[in-house]
Amino acid sequence: MINIPKGTKDVLPNQSYKWQYIEDAAREVARAFNLKEVRTPVFEHTELFQRGVGETTDVVNKEMYTFEDKGGRSITLKPEGTAGVARMFIENGLASSPMPVKTYYITPAFRYERPQAGRLREFHQFGIEVFGSPSPETDAEVIFAASSFLDKLKIKGVKLEINSIGCRICRNEYNKALKNYFAPHLDKMCPNCNSRFEKNPLRILDCKEDGCKEIATNAPKITDYLCDDCKKHFETVKSLLAAQGVEYSVNSSIVRGLDYYSRTVFEFVSTQIGAQGTVCGGGRYDGLIEQLGGSALPAIGFAAGIERLLLLMENTGVPFPEENKPLIYLAGMDEKSRAECIKLAAYVRGNGACAEVDHMQRSVKAQLKYADKIGAKFVAVIGESELSSRVLNVKKMSDGTSAAVKSDELYSYLIKEDK
Ligand code: HAM
Repeated sequence: MINIPKGTKDVLPNQSYKWQYIEDAAREVARAFNLKEVRTPVFEHTELFQRGVGETTDVVNKEMYTFEDKGGRSITLKPEGTAGVARMFIENGLASSPMPVKTYYITPAFRYERPQAGRLREFHQFGIEVFGSPSPETDAEVIFAASSFLDKLKIKGVKLEINSIGCRICRNEYNKALKNYFAPHLDKMCPNCNSRFEKNPLRILDCKEDGCKEIATNAPKITDYLCDDCKKHFETVKSLLAAQGVEYSVNSSIVRGLDYYSRTVFEFVSTQIGAQGTVCGGGRYDGLIEQLGGSALPAIGFAAGIERLLLLMENTGVPFPEENKPLIYLAGMDEKSRAECIKLAAYVRGNGACAEVDHMQRSVKAQLKYADKIGAKFVAVIGESELSSRVLNVKKMSDGTSAAVKSDELYSYLIKEDK
């Protein structure tokens, strides 16, 4: 037998309704915030992620699924959604649309990481990206959209942590301070951090090695180096969040694992799902569009990991709505009545409800047992007398009561009774 690749998961028929529930909640939130869906390819030119996500990130350095296609191009399966959406934005001239351009997506993403609970090699994200607005109102709205999504799913105990990592100007000063701080420790730090020291010292703060993490605990804090504009921007974001009743705490060690961020960054973190507790992360990326060859346009967004949300909801007993059950099971006694079952099922299905019939040539008794197993809400057995009278004996499974129903009134009866 050929097994599933490591770090990937099947969604089984008795689990998919949970995915649909989460995805429906995502789409509802997106509609409420006037975000339009976008779909970009699962693979892109490798250079997009190298330039967009950043060469000093773990994602680009260690985790990309990169291969050469038959035309000799270097192709990478998307490790996240933002870079592809930014490319789409530039390539399709969306910069000339009325701003802001507000988008969302639900996409698979691929990272060659060591699999563990909540960390997969293929995972799925619900993300939003808003282009064109530099204002703190947009930061607050994007964060509010994320928190509305978690609320809609009735997820509790997730904490919002925010930070500002400044703009190009204050980052320069901060990088100098980081270099001064880390310089005497370099010999005790991993080779990756040694190279980050030269190329992008901020990234050292995101290193997962224990030794580096310990040294980084006393590093200078970005919030002490913000320029006046960034400080003001951050203060406004915080007061807008407070005004909307969104609880948060400032965590100055959040730098995020991707290079494109500037100013506001945030994470929604849970302690209920083990080491991979970040269910949603995002931030502003005011330089990315320009860096990828577009105009100098600000942007902000987030992505939430669907598998992590699912894990969190299961671990904390957040209720899912009931799986869709057949409204009626139509059991036939013989060939003629089975044909009638198929007709009646077509009529119920044509009205948009779920009907089920026998596919396995089972006896009536076995059909009724099966109907019970699949949770049919109503059952009707059709035999010769039902065929001639066109009146069905419809049994309500929840209380065992039965009623005589004219077959051409079956659907309206079922809908009325299914409460
Ligand atoms: P990220 O923090 O790398 O940000 O990923 C966002 C979310 O995707 C994480 O919080 C987590 O829930 C989920 N995730 C990431 N890696 C894995 C994995 N290996 N297995 C399962 N779930 C995972 C981004 O991807 C940015 N593009 C977010 C963003 C959008 N920033 C601005 N716009």
